[in-house]
Amino acid sequence: MDGNGRWAQARGLARTDGHRAGEHSLFEVVEACDEVGVGWLTVYAFSTENWKRPKDEVRFLLNFNQDLLVRRRQELHERNVRVRFVGRRDWRVPKRLIARMDETIELTKDNTGLTLTIAFNYGGRAEIVDAVKLIMASGVPAEKVTEALIGRHLYDPSMPDPDLVIRTSGEYRISNFLLWELAYSELLFTDTPWPEFGRDALMVALAEYQGRDRRFGGVDGGG
Ligand code: FPP
Repeated sequence: MDGNGRWAQARGLARTDGHRAGEHSLFEVVEACDEVGVGWLTVYAFSTENWKRPKDEVRFLLNFNQDLLVRRRQELHERNVRVRFVGRRDWRVPKRLIARMDETIELTKDNTGLTLTIAFNYGGRAEIVDAVKLIMASGVPAEKVTEALIGRHLYDPSMPDPDLVIRTSGEYRISNFLLWELAYSELLFTDTPWPEFGRDALMVALAEYQGRDRRFGGVDGGG
C-alpha cells in the first residue's frame, strides 16, 4: 500500500492524511476481491523497517492501525472476511495493539470468504530467520531441512504463495515483502499511488495477470 505519504504531500496535506486516504482504498480493494472471488489478499501495513520513520509517524501508524481494526472489524466480519496477521510480535508492538489483533482474529476466524492477511511489523528476511530459529530449536538434522519444512515454519503456513504481487506508487522493488513466498509470483508495478488505487485499478491489474504465461520454471505444455 505504497505512496500514501507522497500522495498527501503532493496535495499540501500531512503524510498522515495519506494513510487515512489509504484506508478507503483498502476497503475498496477488499470489496472488489470479494466480488471477483479472490480468496487471499495480503497487505503490507507496517514493515520491520518502518520503525525508522519519524517518531510521530510511527506513533500515528500504530494508533491508526489499532483504531482501524476497532472501527472496521465488525464490517469485515459481516462481509465474511477472515482476518489474520503475519509479522513479528516483538516488544516494539504495543500490547494493546496485539490485543486488538487477537480479538479481530478470534471474531473472524470461522468466516469463509476472503482471507485478509495484514503484514504488520513484517519483514521477509525476518520471517525466514524466525523459521530457521524454530527449525534449529526443534533439533531437526541438517539433511532433513527441505523447502516444505521451511514453508511449514513461516508465520502462516496455511497461506498459499501469492499468484500476483502489486506494488503501487512507481517503486520497482520488493522491499522485503513475502520474500520466500513470492518465488514464482507474477509482479506488477503501477505508478498509481495507493490512495488512488481502488476497484478499477484492481480489475486492470487482474486482467493483466490473466494475460501472463506462468510456467513455474517449466515450459509451455510441459505439464
Ligand atoms: C506506505 O505509504 C503505507 C504505509 C506505511 C501504511 C499504510 C497503512 C494503511 C493504509 C492502514 C492499514 C491498516 C490495517 C489494519 C490493514 P508510505 O508512507 O510509504 O508512502 P510514501 O512512499 O509516499 O512515503
